[in-house]
Amino acid sequence: MFKKETYIARREQLRKDVGHGLIIIQGNHEAPCNYTDNTYAFRQDSTFLYFFGLMREDLIGVLDCDNGKDYVFANDYDIDDIIWTGPLPSVKELAASVGVENSGTLAELQTLCLKTIGEARKIHYLPPYRADNLNQMGSLLGIKKEGVTRYASMELILACIKQRSIKSAEEIEEIERAIATAYNMHVGAMKMAMPGRYEYELAGFMEGQARMANGPLSFPVIMTTHGETLHNHGHNNKLEVGRMLVMDAGCETAMHYCSDITRSVPVGGKFNERQKTIYELVLAANMEAIRITRPGITYQEVHTAASKILAQGYKDLGILKGNVDDIVANGAHALLMPHGLGHMMGLDVHDMENYGQIYVGYDDETRPSTQFGLASLRCGRRLQPGFVITDEPGAYFIPALIDKWHAEGTNKDFVNFDELEKWKDFGGIRIEDDILVTETGCRVLGKPIPKTVAEIEATMAE
Ligand code: GLY
Ligand code: MN
Ligand code: MN
Repeated sequence: MFKKETYIARREQLRKDVGHGLIIIQGNHEAPCNYTDNTYAFRQDSTFLYFFGLMREDLIGVLDCDNGKDYVFANDYDIDDIIWTGPLPSVKELAASVGVENSGTLAELQTLCLKTIGEARKIHYLPPYRADNLNQMGSLLGIKKEGVTRYASMELILACIKQRSIKSAEEIEEIERAIATAYNMHVGAMKMAMPGRYEYELAGFMEGQARMANGPLSFPVIMTTHGETLHNHGHNNKLEVGRMLVMDAGCETAMHYCSDITRSVPVGGKFNERQKTIYELVLAANMEAIRITRPGITYQEVHTAASKILAQGYKDLGILKGNVDDIVANGAHALLMPHGLGHMMGLDVHDMENYGQIYVGYDDETRPSTQFGLASLRCGRRLQPGFVITDEPGAYFIPALIDKWHAEGTNKDFVNFDELEKWKDFGGIRIEDDILVTETGCRVLGKPIPKTVAEIEATMAE
């Protein structure tokens, strides 16, 4: 946990920004895996973590904007729990540890909700993303669960996004701690990427590194010699020379701040000519984004600039044809990169995605595109100092997609399908860094993880 003053200040700001009514922030509950007592690893809700910092399950935080009072509600453990768990702090003690003066039971929370409804004061809550919290909110408010999401508070969503988008110095320090672990995960796995090994061995190594640093993974490891499948979570392939291995993985610190890093390496440690050509193209797009990312530019503009680098490279290879601006304007390059350049990152690897991506990544000024590829850009808005965002261009030769566009004639004025036939067995490459928007530009966070062809070959030769 940060010191309690951090949480007090965050709650004070939230009350000010929302302005009126009662704010309810639900923590998470244990989630059964195959029977009630065998649970998935507990992960606290990120909004609850941000404003209350407490890791225990079943907690609910409440902020009264009208009288300035904060509360933490939950039922205390009794001796039947404690014989299994050992001694645990009371809800009152937990609340006090983060500067909250009031605490109570779940029955007392129900009474407070009914009283607030009776006073015709608004109750603000976020759209629940777990069924148990959806049901709990329905019960607290006395509404059917089908209506819960509909009545979530836009004022609260926007106030949370406003605060959480700007990372403080202590948050940046935590994110860099997560990247330090990601360094060990990636450099270690690179050295293991030799023919004869299996993807699951490297994926297991990475997860072990995260656990050894006392945090979970920030998402299931992507470790695949079929990187053309964007989020490939299968790990059963044997590594063979001639394949690129895409490793997209990150961890959470003990406080749940994330890293999200991708490196792509040639199995065996030496790039062949084709691999080197495509790798350096993706790297140029990654570096262009770093060069131009600064306050005031939109990430949609950065995505477009990186896309133009890729389009020019594919044009030079004879895979795409025509004017580069026209290729990108028509989305023809998206055949080879059907995703966006990046997303916000913080307490969630896709930060705040549970609030609704359109509110997190876009605003009244910058609207999401409906064009294939650009439509998957999770963050398009104007950048501000303190944003942490990923820069993750890629190159993907997806046989099913190539065949579909070819058969339909999609963007046929810009795609040389005959030339592309020769690349259908290539696989994929992605390069991903986590970057901080500074006052004047941006900074790649963390200790540099080998990224150039020379650095990767040198690391893999060790
Ligand atoms: N690991 C998922 C992503 O890069 O967004
Ligand atoms: Mn990633
Ligand atoms: Mn990412």
